[in-house]
Parts: sequence; structure tokens; C-alpha cells
Amino acid sequence: MNKRSFIKSAAMLTIAGMTPFDSLGQWISQFSKISAADLAEDENFWEGVRKEYKIKPDYINLENGYYCFLPQETLENYINHIREINYQGAYYMRTVQVENKKKMTSRLAAVAGCSEEELIITRNTTESLDMIIGGLHWKEGDESIMAEQDYGAMQDMFRLVARRYGVVNKVVSVPNHPVSDEEIVNLYANAITEKTRLLMICHIVNITGQILPVRKICDMAHSKGVQVMVDGAHAFTHIRYAIPDLHCDYYGASLHKWLSVPLGAGMLYVKKENIPKVWPLFAEGERREDDISKLNHTGTHPVSTDLAIADAIDFYNKIGAERKELRLRYLQNYWTSKVRTLPHVVLNTPTDPSRSCAIANVGIKGMKPQELAETLLKKYKIYTVAIDGAGVHGCRITPNIYTTPKELDVFVKALIDLG
Ligand SMILES: Cc1ncc(COP(=O)(O)O)c(C=O)c1O
Repeated sequence: MNKRSFIKSAAMLTIAGMTPFDSLGQWISQFSKISAADLAEDENFWEGVRKEYKIKPDYINLENGYYCFLPQETLENYINHIREINYQGAYYMRTVQVENKKKMTSRLAAVAGCSEEELIITRNTTESLDMIIGGLHWKEGDESIMAEQDYGAMQDMFRLVARRYGVVNKVVSVPNHPVSDEEIVNLYANAITEKTRLLMICHIVNITGQILPVRKICDMAHSKGVQVMVDGAHAFTHIRYAIPDLHCDYYGASLHKWLSVPLGAGMLYVKKENIPKVWPLFAEGERREDDISKLNHTGTHPVSTDLAIADAIDFYNKIGAERKELRLRYLQNYWTSKVRTLPHVVLNTPTDPSRSCAIANVGIKGMKPQELAETLLKKYKIYTVAIDGAGVHGCRITPNIYTTPKELDVFVKALIDLG
């Protein structure tokens, strides 16, 4: 597409009711005097945000947990990066590629609240965390701890390491409705032995949306000499925190989830003192043992995705971390509060607002999760995902900031009807 047709298509978007690319900041500035808590319920404000997205009319998308597709502004910038890099060819790769990636890491470190010397850009959470699981110096008989509710790919990597080095993996089960942080902390504490080396925890459990008390778990584990690796796939730019405040040793996240970076972007945080403890799985040239870039030799990859990280951060900053988190929690509570007491409904997500945000999981008594997901799609045009295992039987429901209460009303009505 040449510049002319590009401008034309941008104009077409405006004509079609899409907000022009630079409009979000202007829109949001009109609401600058209103608190994030009040804005969480302000449909006029969020209607303006929704216009930034091109929304498929065929179904109500309540499966933003897989990945959060891009708002138009980020998408157009991303396409421009692809176009520009293609135009420059190898020249781009041989001149500013590395420098630009460093700039992106620095922007990302600012959002994560950590030093850029402790952060690398990866392709996803799987790569980030598997590099740690596979890169630690395990000895036969060493123990690791994880939960059956953790993501399958990481559990698989622990199994692989067990086969290779004779590591013993211990698996606990996180209750869907904990009564206190201590209950969760004790669950992990009780699994620790003299031989435990690494504890893996989710920041947000992907199948239920439960937020775990990460800092308390890390402090407990450290008091017993055990390191903690946090799976932050669902937490980064969903809820607010600075990684160092969590006191963890390693933290991985996917940027294509809540930050809405194009597919195939992730990050890995390694606390400075731990960098020498990790053996790179891809060799890098001469590097100091404590230089995190030793873990970042991935070879040629879609560098246009790296560049879109800055665009996604710009979008995120315009929305505002507090506004986003409060809106997402409001949306979850909007529908869960309407169905929580229905006798045929089973909610698999804690009620306490500090223990969940956008994501929740709901089941219907006597109905298989897969059947529920299919019925929601076929009969009500609502797209979700079925979860059926690890003590969780229901559909995961994940709205995003463009989701409207009206859409959630359709979902609530469906749940009522299914009684
Ligand atoms: C908790 C959790 N960890 C890890 C992953 C893997 O993310 P990715 O496929 O981006 O590596 C997911 C994906 O949904 C997840 O939910």
C-alpha cells in the first residue's frame, strides 16, 4: 500500500466510525478531573475507548485471556513498522536493530518498575520461564514445587528436567476459594523440604483468575532458602505492581496478553544477583556472567514486533494503569455479582476483590464445561473457553477494556436461562 492509499484507508476507518489514530489522548484528556474509581463505571468514557478497537460483530469476545488483540492505533503503527523494515531490508537489521530493541527494553523496564539490566524481551512466557527451568544447574534429587493449576507448558518443562537430571517435582493444589493469604502461603511452605530449590507460582492463575499473594510466598520461600519463579503471563499490565516489590527471583510474562503487543512478544526479569545462576540455552558471544543479554540470543526474528512494544506502552499509558485495573475489576464484578447466588451457578473465582481482577471462571451444575462453551457460542454468540481439570470446571470469562456491560448482560441472561 502506498502512502496515498494508506491515508485513504485511515480516512475510511474514520468514516466507518473508528476513532482516528491520535484521538485517544484527546478523548481521555476530557476526563482528567474524574477519578479512576468513578471512571470505572462511566460508560461514556469507555465507549470512547471502545472506538479504538475494530470489533468483530459475529460474537461477544469474552476470551481475551488467550491474547488481547490490538487497538487500531497500535495495529496501524505495527503495520508501518513492518512496511518500513521491509523497505530498509538488511540495512535496518545491520544498523539500528539492536539499538532499537534496547530502547524497547528500557520502555518495558519502566512499566515493570525494574532496571533494564534485569530484563530481556523474549517471544512469550513459555520461552521466558522455560529458559529458567532448563537453565538452572540442577542436581539429582533436587526438588521443585508447582501447582496443578499452573500452565501446562511449564509443568512439561519441569517434567523434562526431571527426566534429564532426576529432579523431583512436587505438585500442590491451589484452592479456588482461599480463606486467607496464609492458607496459600502454608500450602507452599508445607511442600518445601531441605532439597527444594525452586518454587513456581502463578501471579494470576490462568484458569480461574485468582491473584496469589506473591510477595508473601516469596518471603516465606526465601526464609527457607528457596528461590521463586513467577508466571506473570496474565498479570503484567492487567493489575498494578512493580516486579522488584514482589521479591521474586525470576518473572516471565507475555506482552501479547494484557499489553496488546502483536503476537509473539514476552519478557523475562531475572533479579541481578541471580543472573550468574542461569545457564543460557542459546549460546551468546562473550558476555559477563551477570549480563542478562547472555540469555537473549534468539537469532533473526520479527523485529517489527519489538518496535510495536513502544506503541502498546503508549496506548497503555494513555488509558492509565489505574483506570484499566479498576475498569477490569468493575466488569468482572458486574457480571459475577449478578449470578453468584444462583443455585445452579458455580463460581470458581474468589469474591474478595483483592484476589481477582478481569478474569473469572463459571460453571453450570450438571453441564460439562465444553457443552457450556458450545452453548454460549451457538445459542448466545458469546465466545469463551472451557476449562475442565485441576479442580476447575467451567468457562473462563475474560472481558477487556472495550467490553460493555450490555454485552455482559447478554452473558448474565444466558447463565440465568441455563438454570
Ligand atoms: C499462566 C500462563 N502461563 C503461561 C502461558 C503461556 O503463554 P505463551 O503462550 O504466551 O508463552 C499462558 C498462556 O495462556 C498462561 O495462561
